[in-house]
Amino acid sequence: MRTETPVAVRLADYTPYPFSIDEVRLEFRLDPAATQVRATMKVTPAGSGPMRLDGEALTLKSIRLAAEGSALSILPPSDYALDDHGLTLTAPPSGPFTLETVVEISPEKNTALSGLYISGGRFCTQCEAIGFRRITYYPDRPDVMSSFRVRIEAEKAKYPHLLSNGTPGEAGDLESGWHFAEWDDPHKKPAYLFALCAGEYDVLRDSFTTASGAPVDLGIYVDKGEAARAAWAMDSLKRSMRWDEEAYGREYDLGVFNIVAVRDFNFGAMENKGLNIFNSAYVLADEATATDLDFEAIESIVAHEYFHNWTGNRITCRDWFQLCLKEGLTVFRDQNFSADMRSRPVQRIKDVIKLRARQFAEDAGPLAHSVRPDNYAAIDNLYTATVYEKGSELIGMLRRQIGSQDFRKGMDLYFERHDGQAVTIEDFYACFEAATGQDFAQFRRWYAQAGTPEITVEESWDAASSTLTVKLSQYTRPTHGQPVKKPVPVPLLSALLDGKGGHVAATDRAAEPFLYVLDTEQAEMVFRLPAGSARPLVSLNRDFSAPVRLKRALSRDERLALVRAETDPFNTWDGLQTLIKEEILTLADGSQTSPDTALVGAIGQAVRGAMGDPAFAALLTRLPDVGELFLEREPADPVALSAARRKLQAAIAAELAPEISETLAKASPAPYNPGAEQASIRALRSAFIMLLGGRGDAAGTLLDLYRNAPNMTEQLSALRALTVSAGAGKEEALADFEARWKQNALVMDKWFSVQAGLGTAEDVRRLIAHPDFDLRNPNRVRSVVAAFAMQNLAAFHAPDGSGYRAVEETILAADKANPALGARLMTAFEQWRLLEPKAGAEAEGCLKRLVAAGLSPNAMDIASRALDG
Ligand code: ARG
Ligand code: ZN
Repeated sequence: MRTETPVAVRLADYTPYPFSIDEVRLEFRLDPAATQVRATMKVTPAGSGPMRLDGEALTLKSIRLAAEGSALSILPPSDYALDDHGLTLTAPPSGPFTLETVVEISPEKNTALSGLYISGGRFCTQCEAIGFRRITYYPDRPDVMSSFRVRIEAEKAKYPHLLSNGTPGEAGDLESGWHFAEWDDPHKKPAYLFALCAGEYDVLRDSFTTASGAPVDLGIYVDKGEAARAAWAMDSLKRSMRWDEEAYGREYDLGVFNIVAVRDFNFGAMENKGLNIFNSAYVLADEATATDLDFEAIESIVAHEYFHNWTGNRITCRDWFQLCLKEGLTVFRDQNFSADMRSRPVQRIKDVIKLRARQFAEDAGPLAHSVRPDNYAAIDNLYTATVYEKGSELIGMLRRQIGSQDFRKGMDLYFERHDGQAVTIEDFYACFEAATGQDFAQFRRWYAQAGTPEITVEESWDAASSTLTVKLSQYTRPTHGQPVKKPVPVPLLSALLDGKGGHVAATDRAAEPFLYVLDTEQAEMVFRLPAGSARPLVSLNRDFSAPVRLKRALSRDERLALVRAETDPFNTWDGLQTLIKEEILTLADGSQTSPDTALVGAIGQAVRGAMGDPAFAALLTRLPDVGELFLEREPADPVALSAARRKLQAAIAAELAPEISETLAKASPAPYNPGAEQASIRALRSAFIMLLGGRGDAAGTLLDLYRNAPNMTEQLSALRALTVSAGAGKEEALADFEARWKQNALVMDKWFSVQAGLGTAEDVRRLIAHPDFDLRNPNRVRSVVAAFAMQNLAAFHAPDGSGYRAVEETILAADKANPALGARLMTAFEQWRLLEPKAGAEAEGCLKRLVAAGLSPNAMDIASRALDG
């Protein structure tokens, strides 16, 4: 494979497509080796000039054209030109015409899993962002919307179910054991929302009645024998449909909604109109095979894809630069759905953990880019934490600043104004400007500037006048191509605390929390208190109201006092996290050898005080991942950080020993229910099991917990804890787990990922050589390579380079077959410049070897940015 850095596409170069595709009919004759696709388009030119159609890995069989009123006739080769990326009609008619192409494609040779491919013996598609061009010649861009009619023909015995978007039409038998089905999608859509699935499935069926009384048939298509495991996904789907009606007034708009579960899938799931396609990991679950976190992920991803029906499908993106228009907004919607289904503060904390771990890291490294970038080299590499998670934070800030009523008004206007269109971020904000009369020009800088703003806070108290002054300043570090940043509006939800669990009023301000928007480089909040008042404590960025890094020079005691005084659950948790981070850093750099007893005691006290809200208590026991600590001090020494982290974990386990034994002596809730209440109890049980693993003297207890675990949540926690403790019982449990779950690929992914995430480079080599390691299955590759490279940083970034060498060849091989997967694995190197010099040099060497060996354009885009940046 030749390595070449792809040429950047620029937002500034956007021009509308000069033709409209009024209608498209697709006819498929499915065959794994040679599928034939006939595409017939009704075209109306909107200008003059050539017509460009995208196409990749297609074999053109015939091309015919008919001007209006005449019959199709073969297009002479002089009237079109073919190249590796498409087809150009050099002089198309100036009036309406019909174009028909017939191409042949080979789904079984499609290892990139983009376009039409085979998974588990069935046909399926993935077209976002640019997979449709691997199915037929077409203007494969989101602003070209058309109505699609589809006919599928296939061998009936092998492919009894034939599915596409929209609603089913005619179906029936054909000669020699073949059959056909037609599907009609009345809603105009871009090609990236096209989907086709064909094969033999079991189907879980249900129904839903919309608020206005329209019936919807629901179906979830899964592997034979798995229908019962789709029950939670179905339940989540129905709750999502209801929630979108209640929260946004959005009803479903077709009589059919289908989901198909696919074993080999590059991403989580895909929102194709009326036919969502899911990675089977996000469909199939029961108590024996899935953890509560799996159930939670299914609930949120089912919701996410369903919510795209309005934010993404009915209103789509004009171009891929606008990706956050649908993704950031839809993540915001699914996070709020989850918060309504479960605990809002717990959901907020989990969202922030993910944001910090992935997005802050991205923003601090060579892959930093703005939420709406103005150029890209490979569109697949733009499906990032920045576009998704930071994109969601921006919507959250918008809503916080204008209030939920005005937010709803703006959203209503957006749906009304732009239904059926492909639009931009500017169009979206124009709706909020119209609804509120406010100007969002400065706010929109958040979309254009990469990097995480740092907010420095300095307080001073003047006892004589009882005046508290809080100086705030903002600074965003330069990122690649953006040396100077302008100030953005930072909405800080704040409160003055009295230290006894209450709020303090200033002379001109009530005691309630208030929103302060810092929109300049520097500003001061001044609070005058009644004469003789005690100095209040300041609670800032409550509920993580802005996605920023707060810099506050507080002593350990001051932070502890603030944690005790807090009235905001997010800040209670975050205050402890900050202390824990500082403690791990201190232990890692050797300036302190054992964990501070006051801090460990405070954590214990906080956990004991939160036992009534077990999911929250579980989060209080959490230690930040090593990767999060990279951002706190340079150079980063993952080996030392990981050792320090374990020390602190052991101390917390000792502090909480009585609570741990008491909690684990109780039976797990039965009968099992995946809902929030029980999941919360199991979250604490799991957190305690993990703490036991940190103690190093609990192998017997852990093995008992493993053997008697009544559900996968606790079974897996015990397995992880045994693997961490690396003592007796580890091998026995791993062998038992493998024997028990050998036949279930999704469960085996957990077995692989526990070992890769917690073991050594040697373990990873062994896992890669395991007969069940499958380079063609992205879930399996991620469960080994991504688990190792992204979660097991002390081993991956080993100073002798052994971690890099253990996965290097596998990354190359994965990339050769599947560039989207290869590029994703390459992002593990995004933080390499922060590493201590030995690991840093090894990382650079590995990156250079990968580049020299030849990467796909997608992976090369990541590697070259990582090396330049
Ligand atoms: N739109 C899908 C979702 O977030 C993800 C598609 C991912 N595609 C890609 N090329 N990365 O719901
Ligand atoms: Zn999405």
